[in-house]
Amino acid sequence: MFRLKRHITLFTLLSLGLLVLAVSRCKPDPKGPITGKPPHQATPYDLEVPQGFPPALVPPDNPMTVEGVRLGRHLFYEKALSGDNSMSCGSCHMQQRAFTDGKAVSKGIDGIAGRRSAMPLFNLAFEEKFFWDGRSITLEEQALIPIEDPIELNADLDTVIMRLESRALYQRLFENAFGSPEVTADRIAKAIAQFERTLISANSKFDKVMRLKDGTQFTPLEDQGRAMYFSEEGDCFHCHGAAETSYLMGAFGRDLQFANNGLKKQYEDEGRAEVTGKPSDVGKFKVPSVRNVEFTFPYMHDGSIPNLDSLVGFYNFGGHKHPNIDPNMKAAGEGRGWTPQQRNALKAFLQTFTDYEFLQDTAHSNPFQ
Ligand code: HEC
Ligand code: HEC
Repeated sequence: MFRLKRHITLFTLLSLGLLVLAVSRCKPDPKGPITGKPPHQATPYDLEVPQGFPPALVPPDNPMTVEGVRLGRHLFYEKALSGDNSMSCGSCHMQQRAFTDGKAVSKGIDGIAGRRSAMPLFNLAFEEKFFWDGRSITLEEQALIPIEDPIELNADLDTVIMRLESRALYQRLFENAFGSPEVTADRIAKAIAQFERTLISANSKFDKVMRLKDGTQFTPLEDQGRAMYFSEEGDCFHCHGAAETSYLMGAFGRDLQFANNGLKKQYEDEGRAEVTGKPSDVGKFKVPSVRNVEFTFPYMHDGSIPNLDSLVGFYNFGGHKHPNIDPNMKAAGEGRGWTPQQRNALKAFLQTFTDYEFLQDTAHSNPFQ
């Protein structure tokens, strides 16, 4: 009786929001165990959205659960996801480097160099477009791409599914997350996306001083850099404000997702134009986060800027006068003329974006180590 009641309450809850989960629960699963067990119940995952951040974007057909996140974390670090069992997502997205790989451009299992730099992974739950050119619009859709990409994990999805299905560990993890041990591409993608949404970085010194106002203070040098970043002296905030200081999102909106910052005179990799086909989008790339920038070098879509000094050097130079250069690169072709002292100040400020708690959080680390 008690169980029946619980069953009904659960069903009401599910039909309210988690429609897809409910459907898969009611449909008899031909591959599922015929044990007459009570319907599958995974534990809802309480995603803590930092104060001042916008709401997390979680698709209604992939609600986060503790078991789903656990499965996703295993899959993220699982080398069976690569053709020759040698690499995982974590090989190119390393936690201690804010989930980048430290290389100018990434190399896949066959050692073939791609043309782009691995992107840092955090605060993805608040983003709407993925990849340097924004060609993916959900994390679920994105997750399967590197598995099959010949210059990344270069695996065949059916092989990956067979490998996972043959392992007791994954039979258990899939059963706990989705109610049956069946492995499907859709479930792999959903679980990885759930794990990725838990990667939230919001505890840098910058957050403590500016967002949380907990009494932490910038040094005079950092504060000088902050003034440059948030004024016409540096103009950084026009483009990176929205991505970094999520509490400013309301003010700036999300329209500046892609920009041409004059990195090149000519773009071989055309960036956003490869998706939209518009000549005016040539050289536009996703405006990357400057959070944890101390550890995401080398910088830019092609990894052409090796360290923070050269990064500040590039913005001091002002960028190349490409026809599509954004008007906020106001010193293009002329340079900003910052003194060495000013450059140091901007660098010191950028280092306040480092979130050591995030870089060391064991909830995000490799579960196989
Ligand atoms: C060989 C190195 C490599 C591997 C392996 C790899 N990635 Fe990536 N990742 C990259 C590169 C390079 C990019 C940028 C590609 C582009 O823009 O075309 C990227 C971009 C991303 C992005 C977009 C982030 C953003 O802010 O837009 C996500 C999410 C991501 N990877 C997740 C994954 C997942 C999940 C896996 C495993 C299934 C994985 N990656 C495996 C190199 C790799
Ligand atoms: C017009 C918009 C715009 C302005 C202004 C701007 N940026 Fe950028 N920034 C971008 C874009 C777009 C990229 C990526 C370009 C690419 O990869 O080709 C980028 C890349 C970066 C990166 C590399 C991040 C990574 O992980 O690769 C850093 C760091 C950075 N900018 C910091 C700054 C600072 C500091 C300022 C101010 C001095 C500034 N930006 C001004 C648009 C802008």
